[in-house]
Order: sequence, then C-alpha cells, then structure tokens
Amino acid sequence: MQWKPLALALGILADLGHGQGTMPMMRFQCSQLVVERLDPLVNPGTAPSPHLHQIVGGNSFNISMDPATHDLPTASTCTSCTFSEDFSNYWTAVMYFRARNGTFTRVPQLPNQGLEGNGGITVYYIAPSNKKAAVTAFKPGFRMLVGDAARSSASGPARKICHRCMPTSGDNKNINCGSPDGPTFPKGFCAGGIRTIITFPTCWDGKNTDSPDHSSHVTFAKGAAQNDVGPTGSCPASHPVVIPQLMYEIIWDTKAFNKKELWPEDGSQPFVWSTGDTNGYSQHGDYVFGWKGDSLQKALDQRCTGDTCAALKTQTTEEAVKCTKSRDVQEEVDGWLTNLPGDRMLF
Ligand SMILES: *[C@@H]1O[C@H](CO)[C@@H](O)[C@H](O)[C@H]1NC(C)=O
Ligand SMILES: *[C@@H]1O[C@H](CO)[C@@H](O)[C@H](O)[C@H]1NC(C)=O
Repeated sequence: MQWKPLALALGILADLGHGQGTMPMMRFQCSQLVVERLDPLVNPGTAPSPHLHQIVGGNSFNISMDPATHDLPTASTCTSCTFSEDFSNYWTAVMYFRARNGTFTRVPQLPNQGLEGNGGITVYYIAPSNKKAAVTAFKPGFRMLVGDAARSSASGPARKICHRCMPTSGDNKNINCGSPDGPTFPKGFCAGGIRTIITFPTCWDGKNTDSPDHSSHVTFAKGAAQNDVGPTGSCPASHPVVIPQLMYEIIWDTKAFNKKELWPEDGSQPFVWSTGDTNGYSQHGDYVFGWKGDSLQKALDQRCTGDTCAALKTQTTEEAVKCTKSRDVQEEVDGWLTNLPGDRMLF
C-alpha cells in the first residue's frame, strides 16, 4: 500500500505540524539485515562493540567500513530496503524485556503501518515542503550519529528521540515527539506496541562527511521545534547546507508482555535498551550513507513521497527480506538471557 493514499485516508498528512501542509517525505521499509554487537561508526575495527544493535540496509555492513576505501554501493550485493539503490546502513539500540526472574528476552519488531517486511526500520528522507528550496543529498563517505548511548537523564541538549505508546491501529497523532510522546519508555501497557522515533539534524557544515563525535558536522536548524518534521527553521552560518531530514521509526512488538503478572511487582515498566538503560534516554541512531550515484538527489529533487518514486528502482518485499547477513560476532542474543549481550550493567 502506498503511504500517501493511506495517510490521506487517515487524515495524517494534513496534520504534520505548524502549518507545514503536505510534507514531501520518502517513507520506506528496510527489513532486518542482522542483529549483532558491531558499530563501525563509533567503534570501527572493534568486535564486539559494547552493546547490541539492529542493523538494516546494504549487506556490505561490517566491522570497519573505512570511509576512504569502503564504497557501500559497490561492496554490497543486496539491500534490505525497498529502494534497491539504497545500500546505506541504518542502526539503533535493541529493546529487551526484563522478566521478574531477572532474565532478558529480545522484543520482536514489526513493520510500520502500511509497510511490509521483516521488522527492521522505517526510514524517512524528508525534503523541504517549499518545492523550490534547495536540498543537498549526503555525499559518499557521509555518516552521522544522533543520540547518546550513555544518556541517563532528560538533561542535556534537546534531541528528537522519543517513544510513542501505540494504539491498536493507526498512530493516534502524527506529530512525532510532541505530546504524548516522551523520551522515556511508556509507563503502562501499549496496545499496539512501542514506537521509537529518531530524528536527525537538517543542517550540514558543507565540508566534513564525518566529525570526531560523528555529530558536530551537522546541527538542528534554528527555530526547529521538538516536534517539527522535515527541514524547517533556518540553518546557522556554521552549518549552512540544508540536508534532508533523516528519520527512523521502529515498532517494538511489546504486545506479548502486556500482562500484569509479567510486569515488575513495584509497578515499574519492564523494558530496557541493549545499552542497559531502563529509562529510555539512551536510544540512538547511526547512519552511513550508501545510495548509488546521484539516486538520492534525484528522488529529493522530485520531492518523492512514500515508497514509490519515478526516479528510483524498487524491489519487492520478498527480495528485500532475502537480504540478510550472518553475524560476525558469535553470541546468543535471543532466548532468555541471564545478562544483556556485552554484560551491560542496568542504569
Ligand atoms: C569490510 O568490507 C570491505 C569492503 O567490502 C572489505 O574490504 C573489508 O575487508 C571488510 N572488513 C572486514 C573486517 O571484514
Ligand atoms: C524467567 O521468566 C521467563 C518469563 O516468565 C520464563 O520464560 C523463563 O523460563 C524464566 N527463566 C528461569 C530460569 O526461571
């Protein structure tokens, strides 16, 4: 099903916030490539990395991914994303459920509303709603990170990373990270699971494809509110180039755990990130650009919306879910685990 008709049917596009009207947003499924303890952006060359990630996209994902030599479109033979020229990699922390007896089990993932596939991530590239405004696709070698795996409180710079307690169907309100979404895990049962929303900055310094903290070559626009969607506000002189807003959504299928007898007796919520975080602040998103040639720029210029685009090649769900990768780090991540992968301490 196409996103636009679906969204229109649900009256969603009209309400993206702040009178932005219809937002040109590519929105597509990237199914699970692999779930493993690797992080070639923050811990290149290190296997295993400190905590577990779920990774989608091109199958050239590996331990090192040196930007000088690793060309994702040529090194990959397939991608788990709908757009078959997108060999980028996208990854996030993983959700676990902690049982009363202290063991952990990984929470399954579902494709988002209107999409099909195997878990993974819904990826958005959002262009400015003004059709004449310039938007510059990422360059080969570009990578970035949003969020902080060590974050344990609400203090610190505002980041558009949040959770939505999903209703049985639909997504209730479409203003991501506005109320009732929050940076912490929801406190009660969520009939439709929990959705993580991870929103990347929209302003680039125009020079560096990476930076030592993998974040300071990009920044959020001035005047961009927590719940704005797409490039809005104005980019500061230090980061003058408007880039598409990359956004991830992940649906964690917590429904099997919606039972009072499974939740902690003290009434607290039972979910933890693979970082060890019991509150929810440490979710983060990593991105390594890997679109073939100028395909992404063409799609942005055409203001493509949803998961079909005249400028791009697509593949079927059956083809996309076939693109998986075996783990380089051999360890158990499923079943009932005594410790989180990497023996993460809870915080
Ligand atoms: C990672 O992939 C690149 C490109 O395919 C390859 O040259 C390199 O040897 C791989 N590194 C590891 C550690 O597998
Ligand atoms: C711990 O609790 C889970 C969930 O109730 C259960 O499936 C698992 O078998 C238990 N493990 C042990 C060692 O008791």
